[in-house]
Amino acid sequence: MHDYEKQHYELLRRNAPECMVLLKNRGDFPLSGPGEIALYGSGARHTVKGGTGSGDVNSRFFITVEQGLQNAGFTVTTGAWLDAYDKVCAAAHERFLEEIRREAKEKHTMPILLGMGRAMPEPNYALPLDGRGDTALYVLSRNSGEGNDRRSIPGDVLLTETEIRDILALQEKYAHFMLVLNVGGPVDLTPVAAAENILILSQLGTVTGDALADVLLGRSYPSGKLTTTWAAWPDYPMIGGFGGEDDTDYREGIYVGYRYFDTVGKAAAYPFGFGLGYTSFALGAAELSAEGTGITVRVPVSNTGRFPGRDTVQLYASLPEGRLDRPYQTLAAFAKTGELKPGESETVTLRFGMEELASYDEKAAAWVLEAGRTILRLGTSSRDTSVCGAVDLKEGVTVRKVTRVGGVPGFADWKPETRAHEDAENVPAVTISPAAFAALKWPEPAAPSERARKKAATLSAEELIGLCIGKFSGGFTSVIGSASTHVAGAAGESIESVDGVPALVMADGPAGLRLAQKYTKDEKGCHALGSTMPAGFEELFSPAQRWFMQKLEKKPKGEIFEQYCTAIPIGTALAQSWNPALAELCGELVAEEMEHFGVHLWLAPAMNIHRSILCGRNFEYLSEDPLLSGKIAAGITRGVQKHPGCGVTIKHFFCNNQETNRYQTSSNLSERALREIYLRGFAICIREGDPVALMTSYNLVNGVHTSERRDVLKTVLREEWGWRGLVMTDWIVSMIGKRGGKYRMAKSAPSIAAGNSLFMPGSPGDYRMALSAMQGKGGKHMLTRGEAETCAAYVMDTAWRLTEHKEENR
Ligand code: BGC
Repeated sequence: MHDYEKQHYELLRRNAPECMVLLKNRGDFPLSGPGEIALYGSGARHTVKGGTGSGDVNSRFFITVEQGLQNAGFTVTTGAWLDAYDKVCAAAHERFLEEIRREAKEKHTMPILLGMGRAMPEPNYALPLDGRGDTALYVLSRNSGEGNDRRSIPGDVLLTETEIRDILALQEKYAHFMLVLNVGGPVDLTPVAAAENILILSQLGTVTGDALADVLLGRSYPSGKLTTTWAAWPDYPMIGGFGGEDDTDYREGIYVGYRYFDTVGKAAAYPFGFGLGYTSFALGAAELSAEGTGITVRVPVSNTGRFPGRDTVQLYASLPEGRLDRPYQTLAAFAKTGELKPGESETVTLRFGMEELASYDEKAAAWVLEAGRTILRLGTSSRDTSVCGAVDLKEGVTVRKVTRVGGVPGFADWKPETRAHEDAENVPAVTISPAAFAALKWPEPAAPSERARKKAATLSAEELIGLCIGKFSGGFTSVIGSASTHVAGAAGESIESVDGVPALVMADGPAGLRLAQKYTKDEKGCHALGSTMPAGFEELFSPAQRWFMQKLEKKPKGEIFEQYCTAIPIGTALAQSWNPALAELCGELVAEEMEHFGVHLWLAPAMNIHRSILCGRNFEYLSEDPLLSGKIAAGITRGVQKHPGCGVTIKHFFCNNQETNRYQTSSNLSERALREIYLRGFAICIREGDPVALMTSYNLVNGVHTSERRDVLKTVLREEWGWRGLVMTDWIVSMIGKRGGKYRMAKSAPSIAAGNSLFMPGSPGDYRMALSAMQGKGGKHMLTRGEAETCAAYVMDTAWRLTEHKEENR
């Protein structure tokens, strides 16, 4: 192992427990020391370090739960059970692949397209639960990934009969029993409510098993909180659609996650923001103050239990009922304490600007606050709060007037009938003057630098388009996100077609840096050795595809180089820390590896909203709440970009909330939901982190591809948010498009015309299309020279921003 791998491993091992969420705690843990332990469940040996797809990191190793326990000195007494489960699992995997092949035949499609990212449902089986010792763990794992959504079936969102039976039996049989959830998103825990110690281990990358052992032994402690509501499956709202092949209607509007549960007064099994520790905390009396439009709340937090711990205080705001309907409450601010020993306390400060609570008024095309009293609630989960004060606004204000964007969905959003209210007459209150909003400053519209614009004006049509299309390196390798020749296994790069504009190398994330582990070099560049396909699905290739892949595969020749990267916790786990500083630390870790291997842009963080727990890529994403998503993504961004020459690419902009037919499905939603829920996290990350780049999503929004949505790409990103970064598309490869659907795939010319600077991964066809459009020969697709110049200028600015510091340092 290299030194950087060791250092990164140590850093993650120390910090990963912050991402675990303790859902139930009877006081049986931590254990006094390692001893005999009976270990059961799908994730015990087959631990999942992170989901599948482009977000899967090719780390040198990772620690399974079984290994982690053994490393810590436990004696695992269930070797026979684990061996028998291996066989059960292998047989189930075979059946699973067979079923995909059969279904693909029926549907006349390729098994790999149907099966990529599809989670194998857990099988049923009967194995004796006879491990020695008085302590047992049941590690339940779930996997999902790019290309497929999760399903509300036993073995995925629901527990299987076997899991229910075994978990309940173990709870009875062992004195110390913990249900450990090695999952990337919610499972319905209703049938195992009798389990008295439940820990969401999540999927923590390289250190997963060791970090769990540390927590079991009290060498560290969990301090994460849910970033998404965990409810019984039937309790999730079914107001909007999910998984439509052509269209998915977001009829629930702004009532996503806890905004729905709290407004209709439905209790969730484990609410948003919930998470226990080994210890307990108490909040003291809060102090409220106001300055301008800014509100500050200070509150002392004390550790009242027997163990050290950290808690996250959350501030929720309930806006007054007015012309516009509003959720019962929305998260306004949060703060995490440092480590508090038993008896210690710390005063945390929570701040927000009232303008951040504004609602979007579609009729006026403006962000507005209506007159009245906003109630502030403080607590340690969304359902455990008390009113700590109020903010009065005597008159309504238009916080900011903007331009309509995003199209119309053709339906009106669902609205709740009533909203539960309580009396907040006699609470400390501050008054904000409507005049204070006039002093708020908004960003200036962005444009490329003068240097880039001047240079763009001198370039030929071919050079301009060359800058706007990614480097093509063969059909299939591009499909699987491995199209770079500078860095083996990197997802893609831009073309070095203009003197003085270096190529930008981009590699995936978000759970670390995704590169090939081994490669060779020749005059044509770097070539990955072995398959760069996301693991587990190679078997789904047809014989012809396999032959083709083998042909592409390079034989080791000359020196073999290594690129081992560290797998960090998945996005949801990182967000569960509720700690932007930890996100920043992980960002720095990734940037060190980017510098090491010569990557300019990391294709992460991924920050789509957890709209439905069924989205197959939720594990890569952060939360159902845009404020939390934005703050965590901004933390990651700051960490990466502290390193000159390294940039993030926030993705997938926007409304990529399902995997079903992801290239050609339209997310249909109101402008209010779009702005308040789906764009807001991106806006926060851009404001607080200034990411170098952004990736548009595959899907359409209200019938237009996001990559071709000029209104959002120009009006919102450049004019309203004043952002000067690079916009690129997701990896659009026309050969994988579905024929005969309602919508076509996104295309190069309209994307560039809309302000998408880089069409990725790029192909000669994409290049020819954009060039002809610019030369007036593109049929209905128009692309002006001015539009191409602006896009090319942003590419040049980015290339200079990420490479010129090296020149300066020479
Ligand atoms: C994924 C992106 C990824 C890209 C490059 C796409 O299929 O949606 O998240 O960054 O491939 O690998």
